[in-house]
Amino acid sequence: MCGIVGYIGPRDATPIILNGLKRLEYRGYDSAGVAVLEDQHIEIRRDAGKLDRLFTTVEQQPLHGQLGIGHTRWATHGEPNVRNAHPHVSASGEVVLVHNGIVENYLELREELESEGVEFKSDTDTEVIVQLVDRFMAKDGSLEDAARQVLRMIRGHHGIVLFSSRQPDRIVAARMGNAGGVVVGFGKDEMFISSDLPAILEHTREVVFLESGQMAVVTREGMSLSNLQGETLEPHVDIIFWDPVAAEKGEYRHFMQKEIHEQVRSLTDTISGRVDFETGRIMLPDLKLNEKFVKDLEKIYIIACGTAGYAGQIGAKYIERIAKIPVEFDIASEFRYRDPLITDKMAVLAISQSGETADTLAAMAEGRKRGATLWANINMIGSQAMRIADGYISMQTGPEIGVASTKAYTAPIVNLYMLAILLGELRGTLDDNTRRALVAELSHVPEWVSACLEREAEVEEVAKAIKDITHCLYLGRGINTSTAYEGALKLKELSYIHAEGYPAGEMKHGPIALVDEDMPVIVVAPQDDLYEKMISQIEQAKARGGKVVAVATVGDTLIPTLADHVLWIPKTHPLLSPVAAVIPLQMLAYHIASLRGLDVDQPRNLAKSVTVE
Ligand code: AGP
Repeated sequence: MCGIVGYIGPRDATPIILNGLKRLEYRGYDSAGVAVLEDQHIEIRRDAGKLDRLFTTVEQQPLHGQLGIGHTRWATHGEPNVRNAHPHVSASGEVVLVHNGIVENYLELREELESEGVEFKSDTDTEVIVQLVDRFMAKDGSLEDAARQVLRMIRGHHGIVLFSSRQPDRIVAARMGNAGGVVVGFGKDEMFISSDLPAILEHTREVVFLESGQMAVVTREGMSLSNLQGETLEPHVDIIFWDPVAAEKGEYRHFMQKEIHEQVRSLTDTISGRVDFETGRIMLPDLKLNEKFVKDLEKIYIIACGTAGYAGQIGAKYIERIAKIPVEFDIASEFRYRDPLITDKMAVLAISQSGETADTLAAMAEGRKRGATLWANINMIGSQAMRIADGYISMQTGPEIGVASTKAYTAPIVNLYMLAILLGELRGTLDDNTRRALVAELSHVPEWVSACLEREAEVEEVAKAIKDITHCLYLGRGINTSTAYEGALKLKELSYIHAEGYPAGEMKHGPIALVDEDMPVIVVAPQDDLYEKMISQIEQAKARGGKVVAVATVGDTLIPTLADHVLWIPKTHPLLSPVAAVIPLQMLAYHIASLRGLDVDQPRNLAKSVTVE
């Protein structure tokens, strides 16, 4: 999860930037760099690995200047080495830039620039931005106009900060979409810029959070704000009173809300670097897959607890459908007590955000004892689950602080979708065209999630309407049965409202007896193969006086005539709909709990990492 820091003022920029980057270390990164304007030219120091190495490099080759930018990079395009570390400088050496996000159309832009003779010095998508800015700036001389033109050309979500030795009195910063924030801080004759508040909080409490589509031109004296059309905007200055820990929440009220919103970024990071959209191939090198083992694989057991378990259930369906390998999901706390039939031609795949959940580790130990190959899908690098596994896939979400898991639910779903494609390719069960089509869908995931997040105000209105309920039923079918389970878990753990997730087809076998005007039914009904079945569930609930909240696909004209409230999601590929459908349910649970005045980040009786059986 990349971090950005910038400074302009009378002081030496380098220590301010390096200390700011240090405060963002907790986010995870694999290389770092700093660029400073020194005697009217740009000087850069970069290193792979931890910040200490960059500190040493800067000590040996000092940098002095009063304007600079720095970055910690979490590799997406290109290896985590020095040449791919940010900041990136243009061919002329006169424009330099740091970037969070992914330029989705970078290949075509790169080809265009290369055909004009531009020589690229890195494998990153980021470098196209700086090369393009330099090209446009050479024509009309203004850094901000050039940046604005480039931002209109590139696709994806971005936070960018740049400066040029041709206009040495300013730094330009911009935010597009949700690839993380950009915050500008005011000092006395000095200004600070960062992706995250903790990096600049020791210097300033007066800040402006950039909204998507906004660009700031920052000089020593202050900032001006505009949009991508060049219209001037009035900046909204926030005064921050929070302590440093609270400050990590940035513009959000709770870590959980922040983490819900971070899913555009965490999923972008989860996908990037693992997918080659050109060839339609998936790369999961840390899993250390052995082709012969995969070909001979008889079965995969997926084991996990709680939210990770619901992600595992979806993953099981992916692997069966896409790779045609038998998969069984089991709750980790049950696995070792059932005498599972395991051979050395089987794999046990554990899913765990913390990688320290006692039941999950015990289930892995059971798999090991019986000769299975152990795979882990973890978020915490270096955790026990990662260490005992034969191979792993990381979730790339950054730390999850809210006890209720959100971004560590969607990331493993996407990880397992990628795993299913890779296994399908290795087994020869997936033809080329289908594989390419499935891989191509991944590029839309951040967009779908972003579209759901943009509807938060509508979700909050539904939360206000139902916040006083005491019971609630969540229904889903097929791949979204687990979305119903997860939605119910989120509501119960945050708001202490009794909520049950059910496969919709089971309603008539018992739970329907509960439905009356006091029992809302939340129905996950995207437009997929099972849509009509879900419509009949809505009708059955309505016929018994139930209040229905439906998760439905934008453009659906029937559901609004049947349901009391609709939570809209965009049209997605049917297999990936759980990633979008859960977003409104996470926000609904969050807002209900928050409206009830509850401790959203630390609900009663729960722990983030359950290290006891
Ligand atoms: C979900 O909101 C909970 N925090 C809980 O169900 C959690 O997913 C479970 O305890 C598993 O944790 P893990 O992913 O760290 O193994």
